[in-house]
Amino acid sequence: MASQTIIAPSILAADFGKLAQEAKAVEAAGADWLHLDIMDGHFVPNITFGPDVVKALRPHVSIPFDVHLMIAPVDPYLEAFRAAGADLISVHPESGPHLNRTLKRIRELGAKAGVVFNPSTDPGVIQWMMEDVDLILVMSINPGFGGQSFMPSQLKKIEALRKMIDATGRDIPLEVDGGVTPVTAPQCIAAGATALVAGSAVFKGGPEQYAANIAALRG
Ligand code: DX5
Ligand code: ZN
Repeated sequence: MASQTIIAPSILAADFGKLAQEAKAVEAAGADWLHLDIMDGHFVPNITFGPDVVKALRPHVSIPFDVHLMIAPVDPYLEAFRAAGADLISVHPESGPHLNRTLKRIRELGAKAGVVFNPSTDPGVIQWMMEDVDLILVMSINPGFGGQSFMPSQLKKIEALRKMIDATGRDIPLEVDGGVTPVTAPQCIAAGATALVAGSAVFKGGPEQYAANIAALRG
């Protein structure tokens, strides 16, 4: 039997004036990981927060921190995010000159190394280095903002990456990020996803709704 889908609420959709309370509320509501979107206004057209905010949140919850780096260059900041408490660190191939070197550096720092695919990024970029990948994150929107609509075109990519993961015999989480709702979540799971990021769909309705919102994504 397949294990339960990992749900990673994206703090991007939380009330930024109450970040610690929001993180605690989704943890209490059943979140498996906390997804933290780091944007630099350069790699993507939006700015969020940096390692100091990640560090400030870390003592408030115990679930793993799933840090999604949308910054370029990315390499100079890996150590700071690991020191801030990132457990999983995911990078876009386009954010540095040597993806494999970046992944190895993340592992050296003691975190799990993830690769993020923009809608236009070909899965083949990791074909010859699957052994260096601990997490795969498929963007089902163009990165930069929450609240966008899911791109069904990415379901085929999820299926392709599912096959690539199965061929390794390793249990590499296959995560989807962007426009994940109770309608699109089952499509992602059917295509082979094992982890779902959701911002708007988790944080809508306020803290008393979070448990029901998370449960609705699990189907
Ligand atoms: C966007 C971020 C996503 C975003 C998803 O670049 O990577 O994690 O928070 O937001 P929703 O779930 O609202 O599409
Ligand atoms: Zn994200």
